[in-house]
Amino acid sequence: MTVHPDVKEILLDEKTIARRVAELGAQISKDYAGKSLTALVVLKGSFVFAADLLRAIDVQTKVEFIGLRSYGSRTSTSGVVEITMDVKYPLNGHDVLIIEDIVDTGLTLDYLKNNLATRKPASIKLASLLHKPERGVKDMSIDYLGFTVPNEFVIGYGLDFDGRYRNLPYVGIMKTP
Ligand code: IMP
Repeated sequence: MTVHPDVKEILLDEKTIARRVAELGAQISKDYAGKSLTALVVLKGSFVFAADLLRAIDVQTKVEFIGLRSYGSRTSTSGVVEITMDVKYPLNGHDVLIIEDIVDTGLTLDYLKNNLATRKPASIKLASLLHKPERGVKDMSIDYLGFTVPNEFVIGYGLDFDGRYRNLPYVGIMKTP
């Protein structure tokens, strides 16, 4: 596989990701057996993970999207979050599974969880592909976690820097300029 010149090191290759995503899908299917699920895909970063994870889930599932933008420096959030695109349907009574790309400080998800709670869903759980535990500001419990990663800026498999690199099939550490 050719490695993008802006990638310092591949952390998770395609096969490793696919294996783990299949495991997460099987676990979610088991936990929600007999229920119906509303997957809430957080745009933009989680669209690749969500596309793979959803196809590994075999319970009745609706898919909704929410767009979030968190302000901060180019590689870190301030915790000030804006909803750029909201869910079109009421979530009250739904078993909601948030699908996120990465939990870094946890500030974005803290905002989202508090916001969703006001919509009175039956339950809220969280699936995140990645977690940077060293950076945790908010204590975030991740119900379905793909991988723990070191405190480095990562790109690929949906994750971007300045809107780029989302289409890389692997997760890699970005070279510092
Ligand atoms: P938070 O710090 O947990 O609030 O993370 C906010 C958002 O920043 C995440 O949902 C990602 O979209 C983005 N983010 C955090 N760390 C990285 C990274 O290493 N690469 C790409 N995006 C990141």
